[in-house]
Amino acid sequence: MAQVISGKDLFERLKGEYKNEIARLQKEHNIVPGLAVVLVGDNPASLSYVRLKEKACAEIGIHSRDLRFEKDFTEDALLKLIDELNHDKNIHGILVQLPLPDHIDEAKVLYAIDPLKDVDGFHPVNAGRLLLGEPAYYPATPLGIQQLLIQNNIKVEGKHVVIVGRSNIVGKPLAMLLVQKQNGANATVTICHTRTRDLGAVTRTADILVAAVGRPHTVTADMVKEGAVVIDVGVNRVEDATKKRGYRLIGDVDFAEVEPKVSAITPVPGGVGPMTIAMLLHNVIKAAKDHAGRQ
Ligand code: GUN
Repeated sequence: MAQVISGKDLFERLKGEYKNEIARLQKEHNIVPGLAVVLVGDNPASLSYVRLKEKACAEIGIHSRDLRFEKDFTEDALLKLIDELNHDKNIHGILVQLPLPDHIDEAKVLYAIDPLKDVDGFHPVNAGRLLLGEPAYYPATPLGIQQLLIQNNIKVEGKHVVIVGRSNIVGKPLAMLLVQKQNGANATVTICHTRTRDLGAVTRTADILVAAVGRPHTVTADMVKEGAVVIDVGVNRVEDATKKRGYRLIGDVDFAEVEPKVSAITPVPGGVGPMTIAMLLHNVIKAAKDHAGRQ
């Protein structure tokens, strides 16, 4: 039986710690961490993520400013809003939920965010600093995966970590994080993608296999080495008439098939997802503290 690694339990524990830290920040520096959450359009998954982020902020004392716009909101209006938020003293972090509608240039928007308020870690300054192993705002999902491994005593040093998926949000930054000459890292990392030849042959060499593809049940038992650790980043909605909301969430890994073969695995939901939110909170608190340090 594999160890099922819960992100939910760790999330609950971390929220307690963050709450105390925020109370201290307020007492010692008179600062209430502020996060602007920008959502354009009505993508149902984005709406649900944004709600979860705002709920977590409210629980621990982060002031979140909820900015929602119709899908025809213009790129110019969005850039103007970001400029205002960059100058707003009560806002320490700015999050623009992705994906944006097609008529908006995502890179242009992300580049407009002040790197010191970029709590998603998507600005090239932060991405570059991550590459160089320097302190910065690191993307929440990779940070969450690293924390899950550390807190569950799963060493990555010297291990072969295979990441399936090369997105700027998960695959690439996770590789950069785990390859660093630092505690909780020092891994040998391979990134696989749609053009990888014989994907199974590569994934079977993984001590730690990370699935971040965005396609249900892409990783099957035959692709996994006996005793490996499997991290499932996928959050895929599949129709399910037995559920009140009409769908259920499944991962990129075929859990039922893979679990008996591995030593540890994250579930979906309740694995990586809550850790993404936890690390966003971490980044917002860091932004507020960094702001206090600059005052
Ligand atoms: N869309 C999917 N994941 C993320 C994330 O971590 N941050 C933002 N802003 N958008 C996302």
